[in-house]
Amino acid sequence: MGYFILKLLNYICCMAEDLTITRSTDKEERYQSLIPQIEALIFGERDLVANLANISAALKEQFKWFWVGFYLVKDNELVLGPFQGPVACTRIAKGRGVCGAAWEQAKTLIVADVEAFPGHIACSSLSRSEIVLPMIQNGEVVGVLDVDSEELNWFDQTDAKYLEQIVKLLQF
Ligand code: SME
Repeated sequence: MGYFILKLLNYICCMAEDLTITRSTDKEERYQSLIPQIEALIFGERDLVANLANISAALKEQFKWFWVGFYLVKDNELVLGPFQGPVACTRIAKGRGVCGAAWEQAKTLIVADVEAFPGHIACSSLSRSEIVLPMIQNGEVVGVLDVDSEELNWFDQTDAKYLEQIVKLLQF
């Protein structure tokens, strides 16, 4: 029932431009404010690309990260999906770079300094630290969420915890 009310509110009032951005400097508060809005944005919408596009935009608007977006597994490669930020590498092989490693290991990787990560793929020389989370469906990695920062050591377990919650909201 709560979900139907949420969906109704979504139809009535929740256009993308109505995203409420908190100015709090507390990272947890930012995620806690954003996650219900993401739930409302994607509730009832079954188109994966539409949902990935809106999630990228919402995360970018709230956190102003350098790059945030998705790669999807297609024909045994990661292929660039919806994202916000500068143009990026289109295809990544399994095990290559941080994205390919997160796919191969099926686990979240936090990289404090991308230059210290063997095989890191520098889509932009401005990216200094990164977090990549696998998107898992029926035990298989079907894609990754990748976030890049221009600052060293930007991501921590709080980002991992909340970004994992966001990825779990998706239905593939
Ligand atoms: N740096 C990533 C490649 C993707 S871009 O950062 C958008 C990697 O090493 O896998």
